[in-house]
Amino acid sequence: MTTLPNPQDLTRSKLAQTSAGVHALVRQRWSPRSFSSREVHPDDLKLMLDAARWAASCFNEQPWRFIVGANPRTATYKKLLECLVEANRQWAKAAPVLMLTLGKRTFTHNAKPNHYGLHDAGLALAGVMLQATSMGIFVHGMGGFEHEKARTAFAIPDDYEMGAAVAIGYLGDLSGLTGKTLDQELAPRTRKPLEEIAFEDSFGQALAL
Ligand SMILES: Cc1cc2nc3c(=O)[nH]c(=O)nc-3n(C[C@H](O)[C@H](O)[C@H](O)COP(=O)(O)O)c2cc1C
Repeated sequence: MTTLPNPQDLTRSKLAQTSAGVHALVRQRWSPRSFSSREVHPDDLKLMLDAARWAASCFNEQPWRFIVGANPRTATYKKLLECLVEANRQWAKAAPVLMLTLGKRTFTHNAKPNHYGLHDAGLALAGVMLQATSMGIFVHGMGGFEHEKARTAFAIPDDYEMGAAVAIGYLGDLSGLTGKTLDQELAPRTRKPLEEIAFEDSFGQALAL
């Protein structure tokens, strides 16, 4: 029988292999599937959402909106859990907070399309993630949820586009995970090299740094 790493060892093994000098908050953030039942205090949740509020946005539109199931006893949490695809629900049900991000499709000042609505909602979620990391809390985004079910469940207006479902909480032990989910949790984190994502002169031409 193989011994599973404890949460501290797992976190150590997930530390991003960055160049020296990348901030610790960036290095330490990762997306777990093993959550503990420890609740996230409402004050801490409020800090995460406040961090989101201060993200940059096109025209300062602040197109992000969040539907928040602040603990598993809330009707919002239960409905969000119902909207997840089964593969996500299996592990996300252990997280004490579930959330849904939305992006407004149009600018409020002129009603024209805002092509940056979801882009900026993503920036806001990054704020949530970094603030959470600073407090020892973990955040896992999920595209795997039923969009139309969520739209109906929360009466989301058409002017708001679905972003990601999000699981938030403290790291737990791995005993609740099996099969593919456990493999994913134990897998090393990987990234494309800089040459594949940063260009100069023309698209695909690696930036020389
Ligand atoms: C918008 C978005 C959607 C995602 N959807 C899922 C998902 O449905 N299920 C899942 O297990 N992970 C999901 N992830 C997590 C990614 O798989 C994860 O961020 C990626 O593998 C990089 O790992 P890291 O966050 O630990 O660095 C999603 C992440 C984002 C940002």
